[in-house]
Amino acid sequence: MALTVSETLSVGSAAKQRQIWSVGGGKGGIGKSLISASLGWQLARMGQRVVVVDADLGGANLHTCLGLPVPARTLADFIQRRLDTLEETLTETGVPGLRLLSGAGDLLTAANIKHLQKVRVLKKIRALDVDVVLIDIGAGTSFNILDFFLISDVSVLTVVPEPSSIENGYRFIKGGLYRRLRAATKHEGTRRLVEAAMDPKNELGLRTPVDLVRRVEAEDPETAALFRREMGAFQPRFVVNEVRSERDVAIGHQLVAACKRHLGLSASYAGFVHFEDAVWQAARRRRLFMADAPTSRAAEEIRRLARDLLKGESLGAGY
Ligand SMILES: Nc1ncnc2c1ncn2[C@@H]1O[C@H](COP(=O)(O)OP(=O)(O)OP(=O)(O)O)[C@@H](O)[C@H]1O
Ligand SMILES: [Mg+2]
Repeated sequence: MALTVSETLSVGSAAKQRQIWSVGGGKGGIGKSLISASLGWQLARMGQRVVVVDADLGGANLHTCLGLPVPARTLADFIQRRLDTLEETLTETGVPGLRLLSGAGDLLTAANIKHLQKVRVLKKIRALDVDVVLIDIGAGTSFNILDFFLISDVSVLTVVPEPSSIENGYRFIKGGLYRRLRAATKHEGTRRLVEAAMDPKNELGLRTPVDLVRRVEAEDPETAALFRREMGAFQPRFVVNEVRSERDVAIGHQLVAACKRHLGLSASYAGFVHFEDAVWQAARRRRLFMADAPTSRAAEEIRRLARDLLKGESLGAGY
């Protein structure tokens, strides 16, 4: 039987309970780095050993969110073999249990990183001796970004209550799902069907992944069953950031329902974070609001989010 993407990339991982979390979103400036930094900070406070990875390829700035100067060592040193191990590239953050793996600037862009290099990095990330690796994967829907999302045990999808962010978030998940399905099969004909489905205006009338699986079913039931398993295993968790009203909070539930209806996916609503002045004011001072404004509503919401994600819980319909 063909291996799934996550199975392929987890070859060699230790039996220990190590989790990879990723924080993505189809759009820039929606709080992905802030949420990654604050979740990492909070998990460390809860006694977890955490590495936050800045995989934002265009504009690595997770260090700034954590109040740190530009790190001297980055993933680029590892990829170009100036450093032998990924551990050597880690930067201490000053918070016990929390270390940073800084991004590699342009190195990881689609044009530059070779597939094997990427697989090597992903395997080493998975092998880090910590409890949680939390990856800020940056904006966009390129393959390199989606692959970070796809290898994660917990895939957090950040949106803000704006139509463009919601559309991009939805597109991000759809793109990730197609990539996952494409990687799951070696059958050329089926791969071509997945590629056709990726084009929203394809002439085969494949508008959604559900259409695609139905079509594959007719020709290749075994692969259709594999696709259903892949879809079952892909469970993005939405975080709605910068909420200002009850209506904004409800967007998370609407997204979960839309994923079920249009993509056949069991997404969940992990939580929300209010828009608060304390958050951006701390960011301007190059400080994290978790440390500077621990009594703020946003800090309380991040604490709840970290707790729930760790336990695998999500928000019920009551919220
Ligand atoms: N909940 C919030 N309340 C107030 N301000 C916020 C909140 N979330 C984010 N911001 C503001 O938005 C800015 C951008 O956030 P951040 O850098 O985390 O976004 P990003 O999605 O990582 O962006 P990029 O795609 O450019 O990396 C923050 O510096 C902060 O000023
Ligand atoms: Mg960012």
